[in-house]
Order: sequence, then structure tokens, then C-alpha cells
Amino acid sequence: MTVLVTGGAGYIGAHVVRLLLERGESVVVVDNLSTGRAERVAGAQMVGLDLAAPQAQDRLEGLIQENSVDSVIHLAALKQVGESVADPLLYYRTNVGSTTALLAAMERTGVRRLVFSSSAAAYGVPEVTIVDESTPCRPINPYGETKLIGEWMTAACAKAWGLRAVNLRYFNVAGAASADLADPAALNLVPIAIGQILAGRSPVVFGSDYDTPDGTCIRDYVHISDLADAHLAALDSTAGSGPLESVLNVGTGAGASVLEVLEMLRRVSGRTVDAEIADRRPGDPPQLIADVARIQHALGWQAKRNLEDIVTSAWEAELANRSK
Ligand code: WQD
Repeated sequence: MTVLVTGGAGYIGAHVVRLLLERGESVVVVDNLSTGRAERVAGAQMVGLDLAAPQAQDRLEGLIQENSVDSVIHLAALKQVGESVADPLLYYRTNVGSTTALLAAMERTGVRRLVFSSSAAAYGVPEVTIVDESTPCRPINPYGETKLIGEWMTAACAKAWGLRAVNLRYFNVAGAASADLADPAALNLVPIAIGQILAGRSPVVFGSDYDTPDGTCIRDYVHISDLADAHLAALDSTAGSGPLESVLNVGTGAGASVLEVLEMLRRVSGRTVDAEIADRRPGDPPQLIADVARIQHALGWQAKRNLEDIVTSAWEAELANRSK
């Protein structure tokens, strides 16, 4: 039996594919290679396909049947918040369109097991600081809307034809298992700050007047290798016909402020890191930390790596890639 991984050549996908291959699974990757890279998934069958293209459903059905696919991890999506605000229909067409084609192909071929890549962006700016899965979802940008819609689609298909889906709501993912799997184009705090340090510039802190202990925003940073582990545990939970938790946060349950992340970078890199304080960035919640009780209970999963592991792995991967 085979696992189909959409978006498998991307940053998160490639980490998931590597773990699947390590445990002996047969893997088919579908990726349009817009940001993914085929060399990340050597060892898996790589199929170039845009899931939002008109014939995608037919192609998927063929692939599922030819390869005896019995489960799917669906990661293919656009993921830049700012871009989604500027071009919402691109996000609706791509993210919702891809999920529609995939679910239709799964329904037609009788594949019932799915892990869907969702996001803490589905919550928007929650009123609580520790966010559990029952916290109301009020996304504040089209990116987060498309992720929440994806969750609704999987829930509706679960009712209609017995789909067994787990939606994983990722918090702030960073780090790398190895340099070849790192994300060179990520627009998030850790990679941006590393880029600034290596360019001899000061990392910029978006706001230091929040109601938090050091005045900067707090996030729950989770190591990419822990996140990849969570996908395998979630996939395993869809086997059989027992009870299934369909929405799970993936975080560590602990927060770090922007200044704490920069301090860790200073320690790990041994470089001078002078933060430059700038204005707040619109739409940033002051504090966003995952309540991880449900995923611990449902999957027996918990993060094994801490902020130091995240920052060290990201720093070392970037140095290794630059020295090539
Ligand atoms: C983290 C903190 C910034 C850059 C985003 C998406 C979310 C999810 C994860 C996909 C914030 C601060 C950042 C910088 C800074 N994406 N910051 N200087 O916004 O928490 O989450 O990525 O699922 O949907 O919104 O992540 O890494 O952009 O920011 O001070 O140069 O770092 O203000 O407090 P965010 P981020």
C-alpha cells in the first residue's frame, strides 16, 4: 500500500516524506514544484501535477489506482499571508480548488484516510492566549480562511461518505532535519533573522509595546521534525474504524517572545545580534500558544525538541547551504 503526499517536495512535505520512507512506506509525491524541489524527495515517486488544474482529479484517480494508494497527506497549498490578502482569489482557487480535486478523487477511488495540513491561522486573533481546539475560528486573512474551509470540507466528507480525516493546525514551524530539507525562501521570523545576521544587518522586531513580559509577541515554535512525526502519528490514527480526533493543534505548549528567539540566535551563532525595534505589524496577536493536551491524548505525540534545537538546526542548515 502507498501513501500519497501532495506538496511532498516542499519544506514540510519533504520532512514528512523522509520519515515515511525511513519507516519503509511506499510514497508517491504530487507537487507542482512551484516552491517544491524534486531533489528533496529522491526515493519517492515524484509526479509533477498542479492539483488546481482542470484535469487534476482524473490524473489523481489514475495515480491512486496505479499505485494502490490507501492514504493521503495533503500539504499542497500556497502559504503566504500577505500574498493572500493581495490576491485572495489565487488562494481560493489554489488551496480550495486543490482540496476539492483531491477529495473528489479520494471519494471516487474509495480512499478514506487523510491528514490535512491546517494552520493556527484558522484561529485568527483569539481572545485566549493558550489556544485549544474548541477556541472559535475567526481567520483574519484569506490564507487562514482557505485552511478553515479545507477543514470544513473534510468534516463534510466525513459525514457524507466516511472520510477519516485528521486536520493538523500547525503553530510556528521552523528548523530543519538536514540542510537539504531546509526552506531557503521562508518568510518567517527565524529564517528572516538568520538572513539579516548573515547579511550583517540587525533583525527587525515588529513591536516592543505588547502586553507581554518583554513587550514583544509570543509564539509557539515547533521543530519541523516534531511536526513531521505528528503527521505519521495522525496518519496511523486514521487506520481502522475506531474513534478519531479530527482537529489537533501541533505545537509545544510553550511560548517564546521575539526577543527570546533573537537571544537564542545570538547564543547559537556566536554573532552579534542587535535587534532593531520597529512598529507593530498589523494583525499580529500578542500571544499565541497551543494547548497540546488533545494531541498528546489522541496520538501520544508530544514535541521532543526545544527552541534551542530549532534555532540551532535552522542556523546550521543555512550555513551549510551557503557554503555549497
Ligand atoms: C512570528 C513573530 C512577528 C519577522 C505566520 C502565519 C501563520 C503561520 C505561521 C502558516 C511575530 C515577529 C517576524 C520579523 C518580527 N503560517 N517578527 N520580525 O505571523 O506568527 O505566523 O507563520 O501556516 O499563519 O501568520 O509568524 O514568523 O511571521 O512571526 O518581529 O522580521 O515574529 O511580528 O510576532 P506568524 P512569523
